[in-house]
Amino acid sequence: MAPRSLRPTGHKAAATAATLFLLSTSVLALPQLRARALIGPEDLRDAYDYIIIGGGAAGLTVADRLSEDADTTVLVIESGALSNSDQINLVRDSLTWFTDLSLFHLLNTQPNRELNNISTLAFVGNVVGGSSAVNGMQAPRGTKDEYNRWAEVYGDGGEGWGWEGMLPYFKKGTHRQTPSQASLDVMPYFKANPSEYWGQEDSTRVYTGWPTFQFPGVKYQIEALAQVPGVKFPEDAGAGEAGVYWYPSFWDAVIVDGEGSFNRSYAKTGHWDGLDRPNYDLLTNSVVTKIEIDAGNRACGATFRGRYDNSTTPDLKAVKAKKEVVLSAGTYHSPQILQLSGIGPKKLLDEAGIEVKVDLPGVGQNFHDHTSLNLTYAYKNFTLRPNRRDDMVGQNPEFLEWADELWAANHTGPWSRYLFNVGAWLPLTVMAPDEYESLASQVDAQAASPETVASLLPNGQDTDPTVVAGHAARLQAMASSIRNPNVIFYQQGFTGDEPNFYITYENPLSAGEININTTDPSGPPVIDWRTYSNPVDFDILIAMARFHRKLNLESPVYAEFLPEETGPGLDVQTKEQWVTWIRKETQPSAMHPTGSCGMMPRELGGVVDAELKVYGVQGLRVVDASVLNLLVGTNICQTVYAVAERAADLIKGVI
Ligand SMILES: Cc1cc2nc3c(=O)[nH]c(=O)nc-3n(C[C@H](O)[C@H](O)[C@H](O)COP(=O)(O)OP(=O)(O)OC[C@H]3O[C@@H](n4cnc5c(N)ncnc54)[C@H](O)[C@@H]3O)c2cc1C
Ligand SMILES: *[C@@H]1O[C@H](CO)[C@@H](O)[C@H](O)[C@H]1NC(C)=O
Ligand SMILES: *[C@@H]1O[C@H](CO)[C@@H](O)[C@H](O)[C@H]1NC(C)=O
Ligand SMILES: *[C@@H]1O[C@H](CO)[C@@H](O)[C@H](O)[C@H]1NC(C)=O
Ligand SMILES: *[C@@H]1O[C@H](CO)[C@@H](O)[C@H](O)[C@H]1NC(C)=O
Ligand SMILES: *[C@@H]1O[C@H](CO)[C@@H](O)[C@H](O)[C@H]1NC(C)=O
Ligand SMILES: *[C@@H]1O[C@H](CO)[C@@H](O)[C@H](O)[C@H]1NC(C)=O
Ligand SMILES: *[C@@H]1O[C@H](CO)[C@@H](O)[C@H](O)[C@H]1NC(C)=O
Repeated sequence: MAPRSLRPTGHKAAATAATLFLLSTSVLALPQLRARALIGPEDLRDAYDYIIIGGGAAGLTVADRLSEDADTTVLVIESGALSNSDQINLVRDSLTWFTDLSLFHLLNTQPNRELNNISTLAFVGNVVGGSSAVNGMQAPRGTKDEYNRWAEVYGDGGEGWGWEGMLPYFKKGTHRQTPSQASLDVMPYFKANPSEYWGQEDSTRVYTGWPTFQFPGVKYQIEALAQVPGVKFPEDAGAGEAGVYWYPSFWDAVIVDGEGSFNRSYAKTGHWDGLDRPNYDLLTNSVVTKIEIDAGNRACGATFRGRYDNSTTPDLKAVKAKKEVVLSAGTYHSPQILQLSGIGPKKLLDEAGIEVKVDLPGVGQNFHDHTSLNLTYAYKNFTLRPNRRDDMVGQNPEFLEWADELWAANHTGPWSRYLFNVGAWLPLTVMAPDEYESLASQVDAQAASPETVASLLPNGQDTDPTVVAGHAARLQAMASSIRNPNVIFYQQGFTGDEPNFYITYENPLSAGEININTTDPSGPPVIDWRTYSNPVDFDILIAMARFHRKLNLESPVYAEFLPEETGPGLDVQTKEQWVTWIRKETQPSAMHPTGSCGMMPRELGGVVDAELKVYGVQGLRVVDASVLNLLVGTNICQTVYAVAERAADLIKGVI
């Protein structure tokens, strides 16, 4: 079978049979090359140029790019296994959720004070590919103004993280497959200008593909939004504009002459499988416990234990780095590893009995996630049967038979999509035109008072002044964001069913924290979301919920379906009633944890600079979702790939 790198990709889908034949014969003629190696601890080399901690979305991207140079040795250390599980690959049946919990880090979290002290399990991937192996494969990106905020908050030197700087890395980070005519036929509402916003580089094998099916109700959801004043329909999902758009999934959805997979496309398939790189080693089932830092404060290696060696005196092994250590363990684990290595808030490290290498108060602060809220509606007169998502969820045998037939004939029908591929991303200026200015003023007022800002943070008035200054800068940016028609606060995915899916709050103000447990430093990190600890979050959510209610109950487009609100129901009207309901119904994580090793100036509580180098140490960078100091208003995986591609160029010194 042809290596993935030579299989015809989306833009070549129209290749003639002759080209396909030539490709496959030339593949047969290739000599057998020595592949990159999956190694055990006994196979480690004495030293590597680069050690990458964490083989997830970011880590494998960086490893692939650095090992393109045959003279550069790269080691990835990953706590999970190398898996080719059907549960990861076969995602076309969107009813199947993971039952194999060994693929996850399952993390307890602190009682969430503003959510009635409920503790929620947090989870991320624990497998080669990281969370990209287990995620919902939604592949949108944030808006221009959201990336420009990174550059603005960073200040001078951070320009490259703005939209203009990021666009080339969006193009490099994923490979957009060209939608087939069948895909275009089911989505006649949208134009596309792909080459301006998307790339199709041969070396990029993380594919984004398109479904050939939508449930018929999607049409109504699009039409209802089209009637809302101010809602835009950007020319492309990659345009960096808020509005209603159609976007791809992270999967390889092109099958030509029976070749192709329709499987999940993720960091492992894109940045590990099929590479012939004797200089690229992958060590799995190995948990990094510490980054080694020499007397000159240079990161010089990593210490790790076996994944299942959880004794109090584990058998620790070490490996050396000649050039750099790249920390890519994700938002929950990267701050934990820095703290265990002596990089973090001095007071915390002292309490834990860890020697302080760098007093860096921001490590573990500034932690955020999107939240979601489940407003539900029912239609008394919805007649679009039988092609309803309900029939899929209810496993209606007639529906399943029909869906299986379409899939078998043509890779089309409901199994050609996952969750949804159309949705609305809206700013507050559209949802709350009479209210957004007062919401923004409240946030401005918070930002202006250091005492108020400190009161919003986990350590209150004891917070390090640099962390307070950073949060003030962030709140200032958020106040401008509330006034900005191109910053997203609300996202709704269009399932095409009764509109009873959750809405996501995309730019929360509140900040949480992640720290090691001072009485058991080697135990799991202590994660505190502190959801809605900034009270203005409630006001913003209520504005969003009221907008959503009005849209669903009053849109003339839905009228014939006789909509009814089933959750929370119309007896919830006042602010107090909404707050009570929101506390009960909020999901604190949309599984987009970010910010715990923020890219900010050091005087603003930052952990890494604009080249993602950790302050106060040489030879150490953080490259993963934890560096995103401000969230982007949508699912973040495409952004993480782009950040990692840019980081690889920074490490190589080519930008
Ligand atoms: C269930 C779920 C659904 C999601 N859905 C979507 C979606 O639909 N669309 C989207 O855009 N985004 C989605 N996301 C988010 C997206 O997948 C992540 O933001 C992205 O993968 C983060 O990349 P990362 O490199 O920062 O971390 P990860 O991809 O999580 O990689 C971190 C890696 O580090 C490893 N690691 C951790 N600690 C150690 C250690 N001590 N030693 C060695 N290795 C370690 C982990 O095992 C993991 O493999 C989802 C996430 C989850 C969990
Ligand atoms: C697609 O997934 C299936 C099921 O896990 C697997 O057998 C197959 O090898 C995968 N295809 C590719 C090209 O990876
Ligand atoms: C949550 O816990 C805190 C600390 O134990 C307590 O002060 C607070 O009253 C609790 N809140 C609720 C709603 O139970
Ligand atoms: C395959 O899909 C195309 C485009 O949707 C359609 O025209 C054709 O009839 C389908 N073929 C089969 C066998 O279902
Ligand atoms: C180690 O982990 C295994 C499985 O993960 C568990 O069964 C065992 O009790 C753990 N041992 C200790 C000492 O925590
Ligand atoms: C939302 O609420 C409805 C009704 O209570 C429930 O059936 C559904 O599973 C919930 N959905 C989510 C995503 O929580
Ligand atoms: C910290 O570790 C101790 C000892 O294992 C444990 O009892 C405690 O619950 C942990 N604290 C948190 C917040 O997880
Ligand atoms: C119910 O739906 C049907 C079909 O869409 C429509 O003709 C009818 O007018 C609707 N009923 C009401 C009361 O709107």
